[in-house]
Amino acid sequence: MTDQFAKKAEAWSARFSEPVSDLVKRYTASVFFDKRLALFDIQGSLAHAEMLAAQGIISAADRAEIERGMAQIRSEIEAGQFEWLLDLEDVHLNIEKRLTELVGDAGKRLHTGRSRNDQVATDIRLYMRAAIDDILALLRSLRGALTDLAERNADTIMPGFTHLQVAQPVTFGHHLLAYVEMFGRDAERMADTRRRVNRLPLGAAALAGTTFPIDRLRVARTLGFEDVCHNSLDAVSDRDFAIEFTAAASVLMMHISRMSEELVTWMSPRIGFIDIADRFCTGSSIMPQKKNPDVPELARGKTGRVYGHLMGLLTLMKGQPLAYNKDNQEDKEPLFDTVDTVLDTLRIFTDMASGITVKPDNMRAAALQGYATATDLADYLVKKGLPFRDAHEAVAHAVRACDDAKCDLSEMSLERLREFSPLIEQDVFAVLTLEGSVAARDHVGGTAPNQVRAAIARVRAQLAE
Ligand code: ARG
Repeated sequence: MTDQFAKKAEAWSARFSEPVSDLVKRYTASVFFDKRLALFDIQGSLAHAEMLAAQGIISAADRAEIERGMAQIRSEIEAGQFEWLLDLEDVHLNIEKRLTELVGDAGKRLHTGRSRNDQVATDIRLYMRAAIDDILALLRSLRGALTDLAERNADTIMPGFTHLQVAQPVTFGHHLLAYVEMFGRDAERMADTRRRVNRLPLGAAALAGTTFPIDRLRVARTLGFEDVCHNSLDAVSDRDFAIEFTAAASVLMMHISRMSEELVTWMSPRIGFIDIADRFCTGSSIMPQKKNPDVPELARGKTGRVYGHLMGLLTLMKGQPLAYNKDNQEDKEPLFDTVDTVLDTLRIFTDMASGITVKPDNMRAAALQGYATATDLADYLVKKGLPFRDAHEAVAHAVRACDDAKCDLSEMSLERLREFSPLIEQDVFAVLTLEGSVAARDHVGGTAPNQVRAAIARVRAQLAE
């Protein structure tokens, strides 16, 4: 037996008669990515040891030794001095081995009534709960930053689009608040996922439970879980909560990606609705004039990798018989990358939102093209008694005439407009202005500036909860 193998064999005894090859060792090890779970692993172990002692399964002295050893391990990890060994396969065995080095037999007793299967499931849930809390805090900041920008632009008029054709005027504030709504639902989805993440697998042991008189509810309480997982086979094997999280993250990134697409378009000199602060853009190595919106473009691109992780996790799970299978070790990298991507993206977008310069003149000029107030004219005719379909037809003729004359509806004379409907009178011009158009959409959810302000107040109240 080589020295190296002796080290690894300690984890599961003399059952094996030959060492694994270096390739197999590398292939099966997870320590270089799951060491990220270290502090959660320690937290879970301490709660487990506390319960073992309270139940008389280990002595109070052993528990004290475990706590002493874990405190030292934690400071070694935090100081970057902990030596992670590939030979010890994963974060759990690395920490347990070091504990035993530090405190002897007490360290060897820690694993009583527990398996790495319920241990890792607990660690991931603790990790995810913390990640979700970070995401929720960042979603709040992003929504706050977008709301501030919306407030400064509650009266700023821009063209609203359907099919990317000018449709009706809206305010920029209203447009921004659409994203505030989307990110609000993302927060709801994350919070809802958190409820199912926040259940304790520990106590399921390898798959069937344990013969020791454990108190799972006590561990759940110590770790702040709302409940225990009620079936041991399910507890160690399913990763649906991770899939659900990645699905919520995918929807969130989809929203980020849509917003990115708009930022990129709005920043294009052909459109020129906004400028993004230089610190979020880069230049070109060949074209001196370029300022490229790299950050939103990358966010749009990174959305793809989060979708990929969702597919990866769904596929990882679909063929697994109960209960734990080593496949599940593959859940970590997609999850970690999803969390990193979402956290960084939210941080950078919050900062970017406060670095957006709005160009209201360009927005206004664009809103004046494309007959954005045509619907207002139709609505005007309806209010004068014309059935909507007839009004629609009359305005379509007027728009066509404007097209030929190369003018806007508001630039036609009253006399000319009356050719399309004798119901049109002098008061029509108030309706054909951009301000008149947005102000008229004055109901909950509408684009009128005072509705935008009311929506902002509603969001602010939510954010303050
Ligand atoms: N590193 C493993 C994982 O991430 C820990 C659980 C290992 N359990 C086992 N029976 N091999 O899933």
